Amino acid sequence: MTESSHGHPGAGASAADGVQPVGATAEQPEPRPRRDGAAAGPEAGGTITLQVLRYRPDREDAPYLQDFEVPWRTETSVLDALTWVKDNLEPSLTFRWSCRMAICGSCGFMLNGEPKLGCESFVRDYAPGPLRIEPLANHAVERDLVVDLEPFMASLRAVQPYVISDDRHPVPEPGNRQTPEQMVAYGQYSQCINCMLCYAACPQVGLATDFLGPAAVTLAVRYNKDSRDHGADSRLPILDNEGGIWPCTFVGACSTVCPKGVDPAAAIQQAKGATAQAWAAEFILPHRGEGR
Ligand code: SF4
Ligand code: FES
Repeated sequence: MTESSHGHPGAGASAADGVQPVGATAEQPEPRPRRDGAAAGPEAGGTITLQVLRYRPDREDAPYLQDFEVPWRTETSVLDALTWVKDNLEPSLTFRWSCRMAICGSCGFMLNGEPKLGCESFVRDYAPGPLRIEPLANHAVERDLVVDLEPFMASLRAVQPYVISDDRHPVPEPGNRQTPEQMVAYGQYSQCINCMLCYAACPQVGLATDFLGPAAVTLAVRYNKDSRDHGADSRLPILDNEGGIWPCTFVGACSTVCPKGVDPAAAIQQAKGATAQAWAAEFILPHRGEGR
């Protein structure tokens, strides 16, 4: 992993990407349109103190906050500000990013205690500061703002997040088509970008270490609702075990923080309903499926 860890090989960062030092004599770039679509207001800017959590577990006993004074203007995102720190003040500062447009899900941080994407959060909303930037809660830190992805990846793998075909009934020509109505059934759940903000917001993820968590359950429901999929029966035991869907107490924080409006809390409730239904069907028709 490089010190500014990003997934896209061409997605490098430079000071010219977002911010310029206040009072810099270099030519100032034209203000970019606001990414949130709001009409551009009067230009604002100044400096802000970023309090960034630093931690290199291989060298340091405990995390600590380091202050950086950073220039900002109207369009400076939090990710831009971190990049400016890395380019100008502290090259060893480590964080993940790639797309800079709320698509790759790499740049999740705790901003003043709330899980947010750095690339779609703006410094202007935290002025005059200070702005505290920490790694996503409920995850082990690998270095500075980079957390260990493996437990999350294991949850994703467990729910088999792909279309499982029916080997006994091959898809006839012209292929596995869907109507718009069939796609609507799972469309919202397919918007997940795996940013893990919902894991950082969920109190149960912190308590029940084997909880699949909001995004993994949502993906299971997404594929269970896909008309092309035949994997619901094999996902059922994964969902319906101690760490599957049952640790969820419907706090709903996952849906509140989700930057894509996926609503994982609703998906988990649907999974609970479907699991109870499957259990009832098994109870009433214990030999269902035999001889198929
Ligand atoms: S459900 Fe939302 S918050 Fe959770 S990983 Fe997917 S996009 Fe991120
Ligand atoms: S950099 Fe891709 S989501 Fe922020």
